[in-house]
Amino acid sequence: MSDSDLSVYEQIGPEAFERLIDGFYRRVATDPVLRPMYPDDELDAAARRLRLFLIQLFGGPATYSDERGHPRLRARHLPFRIDQAARDVWMQHMQAALDEAEIADPARGAMLAYFERAATGMINTYNPD
Ligand code: HEM
Repeated sequence: MSDSDLSVYEQIGPEAFERLIDGFYRRVATDPVLRPMYPDDELDAAARRLRLFLIQLFGGPATYSDERGHPRLRARHLPFRIDQAARDVWMQHMQAALDEAEIADPARGAMLAYFERAATGMINTYNPD
């Protein structure tokens, strides 16, 4: 059996998700575009929701849906104005956090491909240019 036959969660384990999300939210905390979008005093709670969501998505325990129900991610992002620039900043931080967490391929590649696609799907403004 090769690594890629295992779920990402089985390949990297829960600690890697913790490292990833810690690194990502440390960057969000000082980012002039993203920080104002997140509710005041809620960064720790937001970090936990993203961590549990990703663990569930990549084959780990379904604690996210036990607590939050169906993810409905696009609907849950509609209150925030997500344009291409905000999406790109989000992606830059996630990519840097993946590097810092030292998540190796094939898990890294699978996660990056998901993030690229899903982050684009979260764009909810129309820019005709
Ligand atoms: C791969 C792309 C993304 C994923 C998987 C993702 C995932 C999530 C999840 C799971 C939540 C919590 C939902 C809940 O249970 O309430 C959330 C909240 C949020 N996301 Fe995203 N998101 C993505 C992209 C983005 C982008 C591109 C932005 C902005 C540029 C963004 C901004 C926010 C904000 C402001 C919140 C509210 C914080 C909170 O209360 O949790 N997200 N996201």
